[in-house]
Amino acid sequence: MKIIDNLKQGNEILKKNNISSYKIDCEILMSQTLNITREEVLLNLEKNINNEEKEKYLNLVNRRKKNEPISYITNDKSFWRDRFITNKNVLIPRPDSEHLVEQTLILIKNDQAKRILDIGVGSGCLAISILNERPHCRCDAIDTSKKALKLAKINANLHHLLDRIKFYKRDVDNFYNDKYDLIISNPPYIKKHKIKYLGTINHEPKIALDGGLDGLEIIKKVISKSKYLLKTNGKLVLEIGYDQKYKVINLLKEKNFFINKKIKDYGNNTRCIVSTKVK
Ligand SMILES: C[S@@+](CC[C@H](N)C(=O)[O-])C[C@H]1O[C@@H](n2cnc3c(N)ncnc32)[C@H](O)[C@@H]1O
Repeated sequence: MKIIDNLKQGNEILKKNNISSYKIDCEILMSQTLNITREEVLLNLEKNINNEEKEKYLNLVNRRKKNEPISYITNDKSFWRDRFITNKNVLIPRPDSEHLVEQTLILIKNDQAKRILDIGVGSGCLAISILNERPHCRCDAIDTSKKALKLAKINANLHHLLDRIKFYKRDVDNFYNDKYDLIISNPPYIKKHKIKYLGTINHEPKIALDGGLDGLEIIKKVISKSKYLLKTNGKLVLEIGYDQKYKVINLLKEKNFFINKKIKDYGNNTRCIVSTKVK
């Protein structure tokens, strides 16, 4: 059966299951099946695939049909200027989190050697993207999830950064390692009771999403701990939920942080706050 006919068959299956990105998803799943690029798939639509390839492709389509995110099926996600291995143990890196990378890079000149802490490292996408662009910086990275740390190490290794990132399996509450110039964090910030209503997010680990009853449980810990872990004039670059701006700014001010910048996401909500520990 030709590639084009398999794509059409996959399209029908995904459409029936309300997957709106059915067309591009089937092309990606075919490229994964045949181990070629999506462009190559489109250039070879008239080519036949064998039964084994067809079975593999339909297996992937069936996973996608159940709303499993495409990045978990392909184990791959582009973020900032790089690609990262992803799996069900980590949050899929989001385009909105690229604001944290951008803001951090603005704060560090190319030749500076800053000490950075990443709280809730997940796949490692933030720390790795920053270290890739700032060759003299070093980073400590913590996470409570052993499985996330395992994947972050694999990604760090792929980017040849194992000598500049140290990983710790630690709750932010129990981390007293050093003093840092800069702390970055994209903590879990979804209200507990809202998690179950969030589409594909349901496939992602609860520990990466669950911000407690008010959504602010881990953010509060990150802010309190940053007050101790940052050097004076050190910066905290924090991702927050779309509706948490005022509450988080108050929490920061209570701990004597000076608010430098509020950065909006692609949906026009404040998503990232840059602040300074002044004393
Ligand atoms: C929203 S994910 C962010 C992952 C990654 N930094 C990113 O931006 O894609 C939050 C991460 O924080 C970790 N985490 C949750 N609670 C934590 C805690 N109390 N201390 C440290 N890490 C925590 C989770 O395991 C998860 O990997």
